[in-house]
Amino acid sequence: MTGAFVIAVDGPAASGKGTIAQRLGAAYGLPVLDTGLLYRAAGVLTKRAGESLDNPDACAAAAATITFDQLSDPALRTREAGELASRVAVHPRVRDALLAFQQTFAGQEGGSVLDGRDIGTVICPDAPAKLYVTARPEIRAERRWKQLAATGEAASLAEVLADIRRRDARDGGRRAAPMRPARDATLLDTSEMTIEQAADAARRIVEAARARWEAS
Ligand code: DC
Repeated sequence: MTGAFVIAVDGPAASGKGTIAQRLGAAYGLPVLDTGLLYRAAGVLTKRAGESLDNPDACAAAAATITFDQLSDPALRTREAGELASRVAVHPRVRDALLAFQQTFAGQEGGSVLDGRDIGTVICPDAPAKLYVTARPEIRAERRWKQLAATGEAASLAEVLADIRRRDARDGGRRAAPMRPARDATLLDTSEMTIEQAADAARRIVEAARARWEAS
């Protein structure tokens, strides 16, 4: 048993990974970092500064200023912020600028839970527990559409599905830290699961990983 008990939860947009990460954090008493918020903040700050999202230096400069307090800004939860995030996330310089923030969080004594796209592959390749959470695009679109409606953001289901497909293609197709399961991650397809079932399944995967980690 070496290092902190880090749980890496990766997967595409609206797969359920955020809720699963929160549930795991509550179950194990661990702090949770939604790393998507860092990329969302980088995108929103770049835009607010009037800079181009295609300018890696401007995006990286914005990313370098992010503080923990900024991550609770509701403006980061919008559809637009998700799209801006996916666009700035293609720049290796942005990813480098956010690396120390994420690794410092992950290294906290006692452990941590991080959810994102590259936690198990790049940020915490030695994490003792790794999950890759997926669901069919149509199911993810419906979930995201309901979330957006609850926050008062009007968008059609077809638009949300198009967003999801575009982001999947960009996040999975980029050269820098593309979204993909780590070789040692356990896949969890939540398409046919309720949130409770998905959280229970995730818990069982993490229990098994924790037992292996404690015995090592
Ligand atoms: O998880 P999310 O939908 O909030 O993420 C927004 C975007 O940020 C996502 O489309 C890609 C990027 N991202 C990333 O590249 N790496 C991460 N670890 C987390 C998010």
